[in-house]
Amino acid sequence: QSSSAEEKALPIPPLLEDKNPEQGKAEFDLIAQEGTTEFFNGKESDTYGYNGNYLGPVIRVRNGDDVKVNVKNELSDATTVHWHGLEVDGTEDGGPHSGIESGETWDPEFPIEQPAATLWYHPHLLHKTGEQVYKGLAGMFIIEDDISDSLNIPKEYGENDIPLIVQDKQFSSDGTFEYNLNRHDIMMGLQGDTVLVNGAVNPYLEVPQGKVRLRVLNGSNARTYNFKLSNDQKFHQIASDGGFLEQPAEMTNVVLSSAERAEIIVDFSEFEEGDTLELTDQGTPFMSFRVTGEEGHQADLPGQLTTIEEINPSEAVRTREFVFQGMGRNVNINGKQMDINRIDEVISLNETEIWEITNEAGGMMGGMGGNGGMIHPFHAHGVQFQVLDRDGNPPPPNETGWKDTILVSPGEKVRVIATFEHPGVFMYHCHILEHEDAGMMGQFEVE
Ligand code: C2O
Ligand code: CU
Repeated sequence: QSSSAEEKALPIPPLLEDKNPEQGKAEFDLIAQEGTTEFFNGKESDTYGYNGNYLGPVIRVRNGDDVKVNVKNELSDATTVHWHGLEVDGTEDGGPHSGIESGETWDPEFPIEQPAATLWYHPHLLHKTGEQVYKGLAGMFIIEDDISDSLNIPKEYGENDIPLIVQDKQFSSDGTFEYNLNRHDIMMGLQGDTVLVNGAVNPYLEVPQGKVRLRVLNGSNARTYNFKLSNDQKFHQIASDGGFLEQPAEMTNVVLSSAERAEIIVDFSEFEEGDTLELTDQGTPFMSFRVTGEEGHQADLPGQLTTIEEINPSEAVRTREFVFQGMGRNVNINGKQMDINRIDEVISLNETEIWEITNEAGGMMGGMGGNGGMIHPFHAHGVQFQVLDRDGNPPPPNETGWKDTILVSPGEKVRVIATFEHPGVFMYHCHILEHEDAGMMGQFEVE
């Protein structure tokens, strides 16, 4: 939808207030609610949000904190709140077993036991995840720690440390969007024609003449993006899903499938006041940067960001195979569709395993992807993993850190390794939400 809407400043989601003044503790109130949002001037769409009409506030905690969240469901439908990327016990994970009926509450409590990272939260109700995320239920969840404090990188939230929640929507001519799946959406996942950033169409962000850190979250139901700056300028990726990379990775583009995150540093030092630059997906701009006269963060990026202890494949007690198969309503993993009463994989607490994920699933017959294949992002709950190889080849530098979601291309085999340190029932699934809802999901129990 080509919009005649005026360009709008990028909305910055507020940091959610921590109601517990005690150090080492944090308590938050989160309300899932219904509302309306004006994406185009004078046109209102029905939407969902947390503590507001669309999307949610940023929850920011520290490694070591004991966290309590008071979730209230004011939607007319049941929901859940899943902490995507958080390493917590199954009872606190917010998966499909943690349904909150309309009008009810859920108060998970969990310690933060993982390094600084950009995670997110979203609903996970069985068969309804796609609809509820699409309508606006999603928010960023940021962990800080002593390392993120000590690094000389941009870290002023909203000034030079900016959350970017990127989502595509299919708008009708009246400026509303609804969740109605057609055959193509069921096959490929719902892909819209308009990209929103933090809920705004084609927004601009004023940036100082210096380095700016963008925490990019692909919060779309299905789309995979190939992000690039309009002048092909290089940038550095400093973090992947689960935290900092050991070294900044210099890149000209970054590909993120649904649910993946990348923290990138873009340097605007060489620009003059009034210059603009655009952030594009496959060359199509969807937001812009307007350089101000203000001097920004100048320091060189640290050569070393953190140290990541590599999990040695010899520690793995077994290799499990996960094969994406089928297409349309028949999408499945290992020939099985999700059954909430069935545990598919049983894992012993604190054991290390190699998971081999193969994409043999179909896509659009004779359509995109040549022989019909398409990308499926594999996500596992309650754990961060390391990528061993892609089709036997070492992962690219930006995939050498912690990951919780991994893009698997048609025909590809990706091997990851993880140690399962939290007990309970967890999901693994394709993060194309229409595929997840159709049954491309299974359950593992750590005991
Ligand atoms: Cu982002 Cu199973 O979730
Ligand atoms: Cu899929």
